[in-house]
Amino acid sequence: MANRVALITGGGHGIGAAIAARLDADGWRVVIADRDPAAVPPANGRAVTCDVADETSVATLVAGIAAQEGRLDALVCNAGIMIRKPIADLTLAEWSQVIGVNLTSTFLLVRAAETLLRAAKGAVVTVASTRAHMSEPNTEAYAASKGGIVALTHALAISLGPDVRVNCISPGWILTAGPQPTPEEHAFHPAGRVGVPDDIAALTAFLLGPDSRFITGAEFVVDGGVTRKMIYPE
Ligand SMILES: NC(=O)c1ccc[n+]([C@@H]2O[C@H](COP(=O)([O-])OP(=O)(O)OC[C@H]3O[C@@H](n4cnc5c(N)ncnc54)[C@H](O)[C@@H]3O)[C@@H](O)[C@H]2O)c1
Repeated sequence: MANRVALITGGGHGIGAAIAARLDADGWRVVIADRDPAAVPPANGRAVTCDVADETSVATLVAGIAAQEGRLDALVCNAGIMIRKPIADLTLAEWSQVIGVNLTSTFLLVRAAETLLRAAKGAVVTVASTRAHMSEPNTEAYAASKGGIVALTHALAISLGPDVRVNCISPGWILTAGPQPTPEEHAFHPAGRVGVPDDIAALTAFLLGPDSRFITGAEFVVDGGVTRKMIYPE
């Protein structure tokens, strides 16, 4: 991966930070873009403060990569937020914020980076969620944004192929912050445990690398088997 450049949004925390660390260890030059100005890049990378929902901010980010790195081989659209509220209380501004950060950002990033990605014969990984397919109450904006990501992924794969491959990862419960899962919550997963950010980073590295060259437009559910588990009331 010598000289190859990867851009990871939301790379300052959680899953994005694990992806950044993994690609850095694999020899990529990593640029993280995060709204948090305190976000720390991996050892050989750099950090850009950016709001991925903002058109100008994304344009400036990609122009900076063109100027400083001169190429872009991989784009990981990972930044995301969730607002959990009863639909009666969810304002239009909150709905639009979630759609903007989670879905519109991917449109803005790929549009801005298309020329660089085509030139590099690069790859894109989008990050959706198992919530694109199943729901808890009061998660309408998040579920809609993630369902949109799954559809946007296959649309982009068709439009950008064969130059650029575009695939989606839909994580289940990945432990980034917050309280530790109980033994029962681990055991609920057919794989025997809740996920960790490195589970997503490993698949991302594969989807950005040459061994996945025949894979595009696909969605990979990484949830320890939970969405395959049939559940009836006792
Ligand atoms: N953790 C999980 O269980 C889980 C499950 C399914 C999907 N996901 C998805 O994975 C992705 C990462 O989740 P996470 O758990 O690591 O979240 P996180 O909150 O730990 O990290 C998200 C990162 O995105 C950044 N960010 C948020 N809004 C931004 C914006 N407008 N512009 C730039 N950066 C912004 C944050 O500063 C943060 O660094 C998200 O898209 C999330 O929806 C997570």
